[in-house]
Amino acid sequence: MKTRTSKLLLVLVVFAAMFITLSAHAQTRAPWVAPAAAQSVSNPVTPDATSLKAAKALYIANCSPCHGEKGKGDGPAAAALNPKPADHTSAALAKETDGSLFWKMSEGRSPMPTYKTTFTPTQRWELVNYIRSLAKPGVKANQSR
Ligand code: HEC
Repeated sequence: MKTRTSKLLLVLVVFAAMFITLSAHAQTRAPWVAPAAAQSVSNPVTPDATSLKAAKALYIANCSPCHGEKGKGDGPAAAALNPKPADHTSAALAKETDGSLFWKMSEGRSPMPTYKTTFTPTQRWELVNYIRSLAKPGVKANQSR
């Protein structure tokens, strides 16, 4: 009786592991799309020199290891990652709404961590503004370097 139960348990564990592996695999390959409701949320933070500077500090410390200092997706950790970190200066990203970027950095998706609990909503909106500034060379936030 005891062995039968443990065999059954083993089979269950194996199936669970297979399921997790398969769904994790499928998830990394599917395009990452924010829910429509999240996409339509508008950015309450107007970028200015102070808020961009604060966001830049957060970005350099937390995001640049993967996304690179200029947001090109070429940070030191990028080579080892699959999928690759997004290029924050890309045309594809420019087409996304602020709400979409906010949702993605809040939720994360492996290997990208979730920042919902790490940063306040204001900090996350400021990061959205900072990412936008990376795509426009010559705009304020990069001036201090
Ligand atoms: C461990 C590496 C890593 C770190 C650290 C990281 N990211 Fe990412 N990020 C990724 C990867 C990988 C993706 C692509 C995920 C995917 O497509 O499934 C991504 C995607 C994104 C996207 C979505 C881009 C798009 O095309 O829609 C945003 C926005 C983003 N990251 C912002 C940030 C911000 C802001 C930080 C810092 C607070 C950060 N990330 C930190 C790895 C990372």
